[in-house]
Amino acid sequence: MPSAPFTIAPLGSDAARFEQATDQTFEQALATLRDGLGAGFITREGLLRYVAPDAPDAPDAPDAPEPFRSALAATDDATGAVIGALTMEIVDTESFQTSFLHSYDLARADETIARLASAPTGLIKSIAVAPSARGRGVATGLIGAGMRALAERGARRYYSLAWVNRQRGCQLCGVLAALGFHSALRIERFWYRDSLASGYRCPACDQPCECAVEVMVR
Ligand SMILES: CC(C)(COP(=O)(O)OP(=O)(O)OC[C@H]1O[C@@H](n2cnc3c(N)ncnc32)[C@H](O)[C@@H]1OP(=O)(O)O)[C@@H](O)C(=O)NCCC(=O)NCCS
Repeated sequence: MPSAPFTIAPLGSDAARFEQATDQTFEQALATLRDGLGAGFITREGLLRYVAPDAPDAPDAPDAPEPFRSALAATDDATGAVIGALTMEIVDTESFQTSFLHSYDLARADETIARLASAPTGLIKSIAVAPSARGRGVATGLIGAGMRALAERGARRYYSLAWVNRQRGCQLCGVLAALGFHSALRIERFWYRDSLASGYRCPACDQPCECAVEVMVR
């Protein structure tokens, strides 16, 4: 069942709503994510897995247990336009234990990473806000709504792999820090191999992607 929407009043004159992305907001949410993160990084099929996880054309293994995945869209109350989008999921303890973050070296880098494995963990995955709507708390509102939805599904801890844009630095880190996350570790050239294998172009450094990631944990 969709979470109840909630509204924040940013410092500007307008306000935004944060709701589960729907068929009506899908295209704009996709465009916002692709614009912010690179068209090759966010695919239509990839976003469909978050917007309509049970859809027959969602490319999931048919017999695999469905993890909780969802996408939120932020819409401008005044215009109804989508101005931000976020994808999120619950990573269960078993999946976390097979993830790269659970490797001994990474878990040792910060005790919070080790603790992520002990309870269902909420992953704030991809997020982007339209350039004209940035700096008014839209990302803060999206992540707050996402964390609430994840908590309703049992998440007790959260993490996010925050992009350190090679030209602009980590735009998301301050937002996450204000929400109680801290940086547990930085991994250089995090998408380097993936950008070559998948052929996507990084908006900051084209190909291969030389950007780092900041593993932000709460
Ligand atoms: C990162 C991104 C999603 C942030 O979106 P945003 O809506 O501008 O974020 P917020 O407005 O919530 O917060 C941005 C800043 O404004 C401040 N802010 C928050 N609410 C505010 C308000 N009501 N009024 C003024 N400033 C506010 C925040 O404190 C934050 O400050 P900081 O830059 O010092 O950290 C956006 O810059 C973006 O889409 N970037 C490109 C894609 C990207 O990097 N995505 C993350 C990949 S992991």
